[in-house]
Amino acid sequence: MTAEYQVHGTVAVITLNNPPVNGLGLATRTAAVKGIQQALADDTVKAIVITGAGKAFSGGADIKEFNSPKALAEPSLHTLIATAESSTKPVVAAIHTVCMGGGLELSLGCHYRVAMPGAQIALPEVKLGLLPGAGGTQRLPRVLGLEMALNMIVSGTPVASDKLANTALFDAVFTADADLVSSAVAFAETIADVRPLPKVRDRKVDYPNHEAFLQFSRNTVKAMSGPFPAPLECVETVAASVTMKFEDGMKFERERFLHLIQTTESKALRHAFFAERVASKVPDVPADTPVRAIKQAAVIGAGTMGGGIAMNFLNAGIPVVMLETKQEALDKGLATIRKNYENTMKKGKLTQEKFDQRMALVSGTLAYEDIGQADIVVEAVFEDMGVKEAVFRKLDEVMKPGAILASNTSTLDLNQIAGFTKRPQDVIGTHFFSPANVMKLLEIVRGAQTGKDVLATALALSKKLKKTGVVSGVCDGFIGNRMIEQYSRQAGFLLEEGALPEQVDKAVEKFGFAMGPFRMGDLAGNDIGWAIRKRRYVEKPEISYSKTADLLCEMGRYGQKTGAGWYDYKAGDRKAYPNEQVNAMIVQHSADIGVARRKISDQEIVERLVYSMVNEAAHILEEGIALRASDIDMVYLTGYGFPLFRGGPMFYADTVGLPNVLAAINKYAKGHQGSAWKPAPLLVKLAEEGKGFNS
Ligand code: NAI
Repeated sequence: MTAEYQVHGTVAVITLNNPPVNGLGLATRTAAVKGIQQALADDTVKAIVITGAGKAFSGGADIKEFNSPKALAEPSLHTLIATAESSTKPVVAAIHTVCMGGGLELSLGCHYRVAMPGAQIALPEVKLGLLPGAGGTQRLPRVLGLEMALNMIVSGTPVASDKLANTALFDAVFTADADLVSSAVAFAETIADVRPLPKVRDRKVDYPNHEAFLQFSRNTVKAMSGPFPAPLECVETVAASVTMKFEDGMKFERERFLHLIQTTESKALRHAFFAERVASKVPDVPADTPVRAIKQAAVIGAGTMGGGIAMNFLNAGIPVVMLETKQEALDKGLATIRKNYENTMKKGKLTQEKFDQRMALVSGTLAYEDIGQADIVVEAVFEDMGVKEAVFRKLDEVMKPGAILASNTSTLDLNQIAGFTKRPQDVIGTHFFSPANVMKLLEIVRGAQTGKDVLATALALSKKLKKTGVVSGVCDGFIGNRMIEQYSRQAGFLLEEGALPEQVDKAVEKFGFAMGPFRMGDLAGNDIGWAIRKRRYVEKPEISYSKTADLLCEMGRYGQKTGAGWYDYKAGDRKAYPNEQVNAMIVQHSADIGVARRKISDQEIVERLVYSMVNEAAHILEEGIALRASDIDMVYLTGYGFPLFRGGPMFYADTVGLPNVLAAINKYAKGHQGSAWKPAPLLVKLAEEGKGFNS
């Protein structure tokens, strides 16, 4: 039963009931249509109320049925809306809590709408690269006016029902203490005999000089929507509510909806939407796995990462004790947290009250005894196994039984770290990204012996901290950094063969990354990669790297922090200015290694950088380091600035077609440093089978 039917006196009440948000799936639509038909057939019924059980009127489409034939099966949402609108007895939508997407479109097909205050009203389809396809673009402007409807449809942002109380969207907004159903029934009784039945479609959108407003909107929206076509399509369809007859506007809306649903941009957004949801599911860790309570946290090391990590806990209202070796470092770390919050406050994004609350939750110590009672401790000390060993041996001594011992290491072997304790089941990696208080990604590293409840707790914690948690197995660099290593290597080889940093960066930025590899290196500090490579030259001499980055560091050009890296920087300006000596060094290096420089196309640059990551990702999938291709996409969308409209590296490779990706890899394998290209067996297999990573 997905909608209940009851009769209250002369009023039939249809209650949508499809938890959690009464998504309008096939069964719900069927039950609602039946309910209306039953009410029409019953002579004692004079009016109909449609409402929603539980936590919503309706959240819109049922995401469980997305991409399934059920989504379009009859009775479709259009049919349900038409049934309500053409009903010969008045239909009243009784709205509360959440009324979004198809839910709002259904209510617009009803003759009357009444609501509780504080209900979230929205048409959020644009966030999935779509437009409201069941009349929303035609009916909402007819009740809210052109300007307000356009803003809501283009932004997808919810507006509270009480803010819309004075518009024609609502016939009544009740007081907060009212009982919605009995108030709606009472309302229905008052209008039961009114004829003709009011229909939103019959209203006109009045906007003097609408063309000027629409042109202004087109210009603004175009400038703001970047590569995404949906916002502008939203403007065009809303425009049709003024310029076309209702029926023609509906046809136009349908046509544009069907166009958008086929676009790669919308597919990418929908992919990301589902990828985020599925990332928290781990096959052998069922949803009912018990989680440990996290009421108190500790962070070891108050440096760059430690401070940001602590802020995550503070933002979530979890008290944090920070531990350092020296008072000076501790003071500095705490002062940085304070300064960050003060800056947020200056921007008006944090109240004094919240600031005080958060600062009251953080304290510092030099003594391990002070952190023993924490439910979780996150280690963020220097990236050095010796230092980590000392810390974890100490944690094993002082932490209470059942405490989670987490490491923020970005490259070290988590299993070895767990081995420094007598409780490896309690050890897990929580790999935050810099700046840790901003970046959404949290790679959750599952050690060989990490307990299932510890993993479940870390996943739950990531949600509490408003992060996207993605599970990774243990390997060098985990998912994200292991792939970016291939990207960086290719960037270096491209310099040896004929490209210069600005060409590479521009090509990658045109593809959609916020920053190309060389500007990124300058921001992060080229010395970090240098240190890693020096270690690799000893530990893994078989891996080849371009020497250009080492030569750059030998010039003392570490990046923005030294005012110079691949580019020059001026004080107070983040703009990157190409540097003659650096470019001469690159050209000279090609001569030194006997490579004749050639003109390299932007396409080659992008292919080599992206496909090298995709190929590594195929290994990562095959080895079971990542659970699924969409997890890898999530890592790149939330942690590495991969362009959202391309859906992540794996989704992008699927869009290009894996046989094409493989052919390009085989071609590059014959070129300079070709040994860096060994097609991953999984990639070869999927390409041969005509499949994609995400299929
Ligand atoms: P950092 O050098 O800024 O901070 C490390 C802090 O740990 C320093 O304040 C130091 O005084 C303190 N410390 C050192 N030994 C200690 C000990 N035995 N006990 C207590 N405190 C100690 O380093 P950062 O960048 O914050 O890195 C920390 C960890 O996070 C490393 O494992 C690093 O690989 C990892 N990481 C770093 C990222 C970055 O972008 N910086 C990104 C992701 C992970």
